[in-house]
Amino acid sequence: MNNEYIKKITWRYAVKKFDPSKKLSDEQLSLVLEAGRLAPSSFGLQAWKIAVIKDPEIRKKLKDAAFGQTQVTDASHLLVLCIRKNIGEQFVDHYINTIAKERGVNISSLSGFKEGMLNSFLQKTEEEKDEWSTRQVYIMLGFILSACAENGIDACPMEGFDPKKFDEILKLKLDGFESRVLCAVGFRSENDEFEKMKKVRFPKEEIITEI
Ligand SMILES: Cc1cc2nc3c(=O)[nH]c(=O)nc-3n(C[C@H](O)[C@H](O)[C@H](O)COP(=O)(O)O)c2cc1C
Repeated sequence: MNNEYIKKITWRYAVKKFDPSKKLSDEQLSLVLEAGRLAPSSFGLQAWKIAVIKDPEIRKKLKDAAFGQTQVTDASHLLVLCIRKNIGEQFVDHYINTIAKERGVNISSLSGFKEGMLNSFLQKTEEEKDEWSTRQVYIMLGFILSACAENGIDACPMEGFDPKKFDEILKLKLDGFESRVLCAVGFRSENDEFEKMKKVRFPKEEIITEI
């Protein structure tokens, strides 16, 4: 398909070997994070956080908790996408106050919206809320991956890690949050065998159905 965006997402692949000497500029990092921040979420609630792991010592520990995957230490930055735990009235109020401020509307005009959200959460167990928030985090991951590809930045989405160990190692910074998925961002090494491998996708007829 002769389309610039399709060319860019065809260029992208899940990088296994990053070039540790190549770093994202501050501007590139900001762009990637902003793409994540602007991702949509259910109710717009944004029950998430992105932890940007720069500290090499911490990243060494995290690598052990990610089955030794070298992307954790060798990528320019490691992003840990987290869900917010214990969503309840306090956080919903924080959101409602933010909407009122940003849009210049009265909090009272948002009471129906607030009730709707709270009712929806009342019907969910903590486990179900976590599951719900996890789905939102994956949308954020998609936005980040797409923004990277669009801007010539390499990335690797990663589920191959022990979230409990990550949460222990990052505990101080992630109070009230839990890690769900990683995204290593940086630049591919010249010796990454995976770059040469043909992309494997099922044909359109298998993936798309018109009803
Ligand atoms: C949610 C998710 C988790 C993944 N976890 C890992 C991982 O832990 N390590 C890894 O090297 N690749 C991981 N991948 C990359 C996939 O293996 C890769 O995206 C898939 O094989 C398709 O290849 P492509 O992305 O290069 O087109 C993950 C991808 C996704 C979407």
